[in-house]
Amino acid sequence: MVWIEDLKNHKDEEVEIRGWLFNKRSSGKIHFLIVRDGTGFVQCVVSKGDVSEDVFSLCEELDYEDAVIVRGKVVEDKRAIGGYEIHVKDLKIHSKSLETYPIPKVRPENIPDVGKLFQYRHLWIRSRKQWAILRIRSEIEKAIVDFFEGRGFVRFDPPIFTPASVEGTTTLFEVPYFDENKVYLTQSGQLYMEAGAMALGKVYSFGPTFRAEKSKTRRHLTEFWMIEPEVAWADLDDIMALAEDLIVYIVERVLERRRFELETLDRDISKLENIKKPFPRITYDEAAKILEEEKRKGREIDFVYGKDFGGDEETIISERFDRPVMITRYPKEIKPFYMKVDPEDPSKVLCVDVLAPEGYGEIIGGSQREDDYETLLKRIQEEGLPVEVYKWYLDLRKFGSVPHSGFGLGLERTVAWITGIKHVREAIPFARTIERFEP
Ligand code: 4AD
Ligand code: MG
Repeated sequence: MVWIEDLKNHKDEEVEIRGWLFNKRSSGKIHFLIVRDGTGFVQCVVSKGDVSEDVFSLCEELDYEDAVIVRGKVVEDKRAIGGYEIHVKDLKIHSKSLETYPIPKVRPENIPDVGKLFQYRHLWIRSRKQWAILRIRSEIEKAIVDFFEGRGFVRFDPPIFTPASVEGTTTLFEVPYFDENKVYLTQSGQLYMEAGAMALGKVYSFGPTFRAEKSKTRRHLTEFWMIEPEVAWADLDDIMALAEDLIVYIVERVLERRRFELETLDRDISKLENIKKPFPRITYDEAAKILEEEKRKGREIDFVYGKDFGGDEETIISERFDRPVMITRYPKEIKPFYMKVDPEDPSKVLCVDVLAPEGYGEIIGGSQREDDYETLLKRIQEEGLPVEVYKWYLDLRKFGSVPHSGFGLGLERTVAWITGIKHVREAIPFARTIERFEP
């Protein structure tokens, strides 16, 4: 048996492929079957003279997603999907679909209600566009691991059950924990990554995180995957350089290895080819000025200085740049307690948000961490957080505290941007949103 992806190594040979009927059309004497096997799609040509009568009539009865085993010769054809087709000699049905396939065979843009498709997500992932997105996601995951491993980072896995909030108390999922206790699903592994950095120098995590986010936007999931590097002795500039290198590395890798999938998605590849260093770096104040300028030009913007940027505002700011833009030094009030105060302007913190181009919004949030014991303790108290729960975290400032920094990259937003899809919910196999936790 040969995987479709490997047909190129079997030119002019007779092979067996095993897969599912994706699509078909017929013209009396010839059937064109598109078969998929998960690694790719291939057109299988069944000509009346080449197969037994039984096989030919079997092809007439084929339904979408019937499991089939096909034998035939691999023939190069530049016009065919994947560049090869199979001239069929024999075909067997391994198992037939029991009912009519519930997803219509039309181009994705002609599907009336994409939201409804999520009900069939377990089947929808078999379609070409979803297939391409999930293959690109997997390549991005691999690229991220290679990037950090190549730079001597140690993978460090923070817990998912946690006793405390990292990114504010309003988006915590509470879970009962045996008799009297309760814990939360982690919003971010960061606090543990800081402990990891003090033990191992350069660490990164790669895992699921959770936010009871009541936002119904195209950028929000309740369960999403985050990659969080944390580096001892690094300052804000160091971590920004790391973020920039990481993004460039990911985009280059996808362009190198997943071009066919990008083309399947009709992605404008030239936009990705722009993603080169250096990325523009602006401050919160400069970003606020951009919004004020646009407002003066008559655009509808209800931004107030001192507040966080909303999704639409992020889009307007990023329109000015053809690559990700790094925004630093936000007001202290709108950022979490752990960020280090800017020594040059105590109303700001040493943080960075990286906004993807083309309106995809924030893909990275990071900062230099507060490394002074007293200052951090005060910030925890000011936020009204329970100091006892953060006692271990404060210990990191008691025993050899050093400057350190890190960030979190949101995987689904990164996948959505690179694949050019509208909504993050298609960037993960089974999305969890405020409205959906099934299938
Ligand atoms: O900006 P955030 O909240 O940062 C943190 O959690 C830090 N503790 C990370 C760190 O410094 N180690 O989240 C980081 C990224 C965002 O930039 C965004 O890409 C993604 O995580 N993200 C979400 N993605 C999908 N759905 C949501 N509800 C998300 N919330 C954050
Ligand atoms: Mg953020």
